[in-house]
Amino acid sequence: IKKIGVLTSGGDSPGMNAAIRSVVRTCAFHNIECVGIYRGYQGMIEGDFKEMGPRSVNNIVNKGGTILKSARSKEFMTVEGRKKAHQNLVNAGVDALVVIGGDGSFTGAEIFNNEFGYPVMGIPGTIDNDIFGTSHTLGYDTALNTVVDCIDKIRDTASSHNRLFFVEVMGRDAGHIALNAGIGAGAEEILIPEEDLGLDRLLESLRKSKASGKSSSIVVIAEGDKIGKNVFELKDYVDENMPEYDVRVSVLGHMQRGGSPSCFDRVLASRLGVKAVESLLEGKSNFMVGLLNDKVALTPLEQAIKGHTEIDRELLRVSDIMTT
Ligand code: F6P
Repeated sequence: IKKIGVLTSGGDSPGMNAAIRSVVRTCAFHNIECVGIYRGYQGMIEGDFKEMGPRSVNNIVNKGGTILKSARSKEFMTVEGRKKAHQNLVNAGVDALVVIGGDGSFTGAEIFNNEFGYPVMGIPGTIDNDIFGTSHTLGYDTALNTVVDCIDKIRDTASSHNRLFFVEVMGRDAGHIALNAGIGAGAEEILIPEEDLGLDRLLESLRKSKASGKSSSIVVIAEGDKIGKNVFELKDYVDENMPEYDVRVSVLGHMQRGGSPSCFDRVLASRLGVKAVESLLEGKSNFMVGLLNDKVALTPLEQAIKGHTEIDRELLRVSDIMTT
């Protein structure tokens, strides 16, 4: 391997730039050329490449977003699109690929590897923390801190007005952000897709909390929660059934994806970038590099895509006890 390509794909996450920097500098360290591919797989199809050296990634370790831009490419889902992308890589002399993204991006990488026998290595970059084979995805820790910071602020106004706030957080189909940030911010209830609380128990819990003397409350809802009502319908439901509450809704949205990465995410990105490049140089392919028991470890891409991330049951119990 003489030249490695790096791209970011899918939803961006804080720490992606630190991972790009790590890939580029590890290539330089091993005297390998590195090519940045813009706009994920779409840029691969369009040949949007740029040679990158150690100085082209100066001052980005602390930056949110991704300097390489990101996209969700429909064309890469077609054989024709992938053929074009492969031809562009061959023409540019790129021998292997590091893909920074989530499970959709890894699915693309795995198909590409199967079709062309092309060496690929994945780095998990998503705030959702929903990738099997790593305890942490890049950006998750930063997003948790962002959410906790926002809820702390919401708590100030909730408490001043004796209000109940429903705060919706991201996570796609997973409740990791909601559960962890909910505990960190002292939420009254946490609604996640992995655990169906049910409307009756929600009302019961809110009644208990009122009776115990609490005058304001925060309920955190994962966007993928399956209670059967979206956050605005939930507000209406509580308005109807518990008129004693003054309810407001706050949907945190994309602010959760931005911002300067936490130290944890920067260190993780640096470690995963080194491992991704060195694994490719050792002839390994079709793996994801992740963090398992605090050690950087490889998981076959197929398992990373198909495997299921479990919610930590102990945290559910802790959350219950904390709302006493
Ligand atoms: O996967 C990251 C994520 O932010 C999810 O939490 C969310 O469901 C989705 O992406 C939003 O996607 P988009 O930015 O395309 O609206």
